[in-house]
Amino acid sequence: MATLLAIKYARGSLEILDQLLLPHRSVYLPLSCTDDGWHAIKKMQVRGAPAIAIVAALALAVELHNSTNTPSSGQEAVKTIHDKLDYLVTSRPTAVNLADAAGKLKAITSAALADDANASPDAIAKAYIDAAEQMLLQDVEDNKAIGRNGAAWICSAASKTADIRVLTHCNTGSLATAGYGTALGIIRSLHAASALSHAYCTETRPYNQGSRLTAYELVHEGIPATLITDNMAASLMSQHPISAIVVGADRVAANGDTANKIGTYQLAILARFFGVKFVVAAPTTSVDLNTPDGTGIKIEQRPGWEVLVVSGPTVTNEPGREDGSVVVNVAEVRSVKPAADGIGVYNPSFDVTPAALIDAIVTENGVVEKNADGVFPMATSFRSDS
Ligand code: MRU
Repeated sequence: MATLLAIKYARGSLEILDQLLLPHRSVYLPLSCTDDGWHAIKKMQVRGAPAIAIVAALALAVELHNSTNTPSSGQEAVKTIHDKLDYLVTSRPTAVNLADAAGKLKAITSAALADDANASPDAIAKAYIDAAEQMLLQDVEDNKAIGRNGAAWICSAASKTADIRVLTHCNTGSLATAGYGTALGIIRSLHAASALSHAYCTETRPYNQGSRLTAYELVHEGIPATLITDNMAASLMSQHPISAIVVGADRVAANGDTANKIGTYQLAILARFFGVKFVVAAPTTSVDLNTPDGTGIKIEQRPGWEVLVVSGPTVTNEPGREDGSVVVNVAEVRSVKPAADGIGVYNPSFDVTPAALIDAIVTENGVVEKNADGVFPMATSFRSDS
């Protein structure tokens, strides 16, 4: 089965699958410059920590490749690239992958100039484009390694190689990355190894990444799966025991505190209550050793209308049939406002799960568990230059 592709890239051309229109319409949106990238990320037409970092990097790569406006020197080219990267980083603040990618790309272009003080603007642009393209390729490889590492850890923790049942939150799959996914990559790996009996995904209000995107990916891949609303997790776990909760990360602080989609924290509390393993899956680009703990992570506040309004295509037959079947009219999208007029809204896009509630952090390099003191040995487990 074809893999869902959030990012279509060839040198000089970038398109993203517009995630505001999924799951009912698959429309690719061309991005030709930094500004296009910034707006697509801000509007969440592309979302997910690794995907936004890569789209930001590639939007500038496309701009540089196609630009007829050549800087007067290598120095000017480097300054322009750095300024544009700083701008891209302002699009969404919580996921560290974006700042991490920008920092690496700045270092690469600075190094190209340091190696050759007379480097041409074209040479600087080429160094940038090569590095941005490498990020796209590397992400898929990293995710496959996360999938293997996480699947092996969960099987070992559950002492079985079949009948694993997992719950996940938000969307961490092909749509949130360059491909394969992180937490959803682990679910894919478990399924490929015939170890998975069932996956559950939360709806993930208010933006519905779970019901719109993860459910779509699970159905697309033929993975046995069930959707629950966010407030059903405790009931599910009490009635249908699960082996592990697996989530992604937008930023893992130096002590292991993890920022991820709003609602992750409450699942970690439930996991502890029910004695279920709580697993964070993320590439090392999500690890921020410069932020000591979760209190230093900036949490993005989203607009109130995302909570007040629900949008989607209309259906021709009235919902309420037992089998859940409705005929969807994709051409007719409506917004409704179930909330009472005048109510205030609290809409943080992420929360921070304390390291104390996390059992394992899975990266492409392996699985980090707490040491005998109950502390994640982050500094020794992750490169300090990353
Ligand atoms: O607001 P979003 O949809 O960008 O939030 C996404 C998440 O919280 C994901 O869990 C996280 O970015 C990891 S994606 C591999």
